[in-house]
Amino acid sequence: MQGLVQGKVALITGAGSGVGRAAVLLFCEHGAKVIAADIDGASAQETASLARAAGGEAVAVACNVADPTSVDAAVAQAVESFGRLDVVYNNAGITISPVPGKGLRSLVECDPEEMKRVEDVNINGVVYGCQAAIRQFDRQGEAGLGRGGVIVSTASVAGLMGYGGVLYGATKGAVVQLTRALAIEVADRGIRVNAVCPAGMLTHYAGMNPDSEHRDRILEGMGKAHPLGKAIDPRDTASAALFLASDLAGNITGVNLPVDGGLSAGRKTGG
Ligand SMILES: NC(=O)c1ccc[n+]([C@@H]2O[C@H](COP(=O)([O-])OP(=O)(O)OC[C@H]3O[C@@H](n4cnc5c(N)ncnc54)[C@H](O)[C@@H]3O)[C@@H](O)[C@H]2O)c1
Repeated sequence: MQGLVQGKVALITGAGSGVGRAAVLLFCEHGAKVIAADIDGASAQETASLARAAGGEAVAVACNVADPTSVDAAVAQAVESFGRLDVVYNNAGITISPVPGKGLRSLVECDPEEMKRVEDVNINGVVYGCQAAIRQFDRQGEAGLGRGGVIVSTASVAGLMGYGGVLYGATKGAVVQLTRALAIEVADRGIRVNAVCPAGMLTHYAGMNPDSEHRDRILEGMGKAHPLGKAIDPRDTASAALFLASDLAGNITGVNLPVDGGLSAGRKTGG
């Protein structure tokens, strides 16, 4: 059976954990050759090993998305390993640390240094990923290797509505708007640009522990926040990214697709 991204070369960032790891495994299952990139090189290696053990083609690279030179090197690694690049999935992201024992940090409690770090990874990290992808897609077009390519980013439902941390939501709102504006800018070069907007998932994000002994209870609580009543799994988000990366979405660009069990659609009234 042909996979949804059969033979395509995909660079996936934040690949060492959560959504990124789920995406590497899913893209490989669907026939992609994947560069698994993460600032934590060892976790990227682990993801690539898991993908290869399942029969996929994956290479790991240590990459800090907040450093444009590092992002360019990851793209160069994709070309060296697999000869070209078809998809960049800008998934790496971080959030403001919670207040111990209290939870979400309010805007006035945020430290300027930490704010800059989060902005650098969540906004500039996506910008650098887009720049590197577009340059490589254009080089391939000029070399007669086929025009266009696909960019997918992980924004958040926090970029679509007031939800969770304020500063974090602002960075994801920037990704949402970048997705729309960039989609228009590069559409005539055959490049599609979309994002997925998940609601809360139990990953290592924000210091959570997906292996917690209370996992089932936490997931039940998370699910209650959504109209569909189920917690969002990292694979749900990876599946939406896979669809957007695939030719099934060949006429879709500039879209920020919620993966939120209906959360951002509104609230039931009456009854
Ligand atoms: N988990 C949630 O509740 C949630 C909700 C909405 C959106 N998101 C977004 O989903 C994406 C994936 O997060 P996750 O939940 O899988 O979290 P995670 O912490 O499990 O995984 C994030 C990965 O990104 C890597 N990373 C961090 N900084 C990096 C950098 N500068 N360069 C390269 N890699 C870096 C980490 O090492 C880690 O492996 C993020 O963009 C996050 O903002 C998460």
